[in-house]
Amino acid sequence: MKPLFITFEGPEGAGKSTCILSVAARLGVPVLVTREPGAGEFGRKVRTLLLEEGELCPETELMLFLADRANHVQNIIRPKLAAGEIVLCDRHADSTLVYQGYGRGLDKEFLRSANRFATQGLVPDITFLFDIDPEIGLRRVAARSGANRLDREPLEFHQRVRQGFLEIARLEPERFVVLDATQSPVELSDQVFDTIQQFGK
Ligand code: TYD
Repeated sequence: MKPLFITFEGPEGAGKSTCILSVAARLGVPVLVTREPGAGEFGRKVRTLLLEEGELCPETELMLFLADRANHVQNIIRPKLAAGEIVLCDRHADSTLVYQGYGRGLDKEFLRSANRFATQGLVPDITFLFDIDPEIGLRRVAARSGANRLDREPLEFHQRVRQGFLEIARLEPERFVVLDATQSPVELSDQVFDTIQQFGK
């Protein structure tokens, strides 16, 4: 299978992380499972700042997500792709456009170019959007008790996030695969696995 950069996006509690682990185990080729924010030593420090600190202004929050991304792409993702691996990444640039743009209201064109700067133009081969009603997703997050600073935003914020993801998926249909995340974990894993197999031929 050729090296692929695959991202998983969606509102909170959509089941991305569980699906990534199950697909990685099924692929049978060298796979890097990674995430944003929080990969590597630097990423872990930035993640603590981002998700566990008290109030951060939207601009500070943005810069931290971008700093994490630039380091992640340059030092972790690109070397793995160059070595022929498949990279499965839990959240990436689309989360910035949606959470900081549609959610926080920062300028979307600026965010697009900031993302290009941070990724040095790397764009995923496939992006799976796990679409879910935020009321259902947030209930799942509350049940597993790991709520972070963004999970605690009001419901309207998460509704804007969901609509934002659906809108950007419509703008780039060749890259996005939109999945109904209320399906069972097995159904989701099958769809993701089959799509990657087709694409990687
Ligand atoms: P995480 O616990 O990884 O959430 P999830 O399991 O839902 O992926 O927390 C990451 C949070 O950071 C999540 O609420 C989305 C948010 N986020 C942004 O706001 N902007 C970004 O660029 C990224 C990568 C994440």
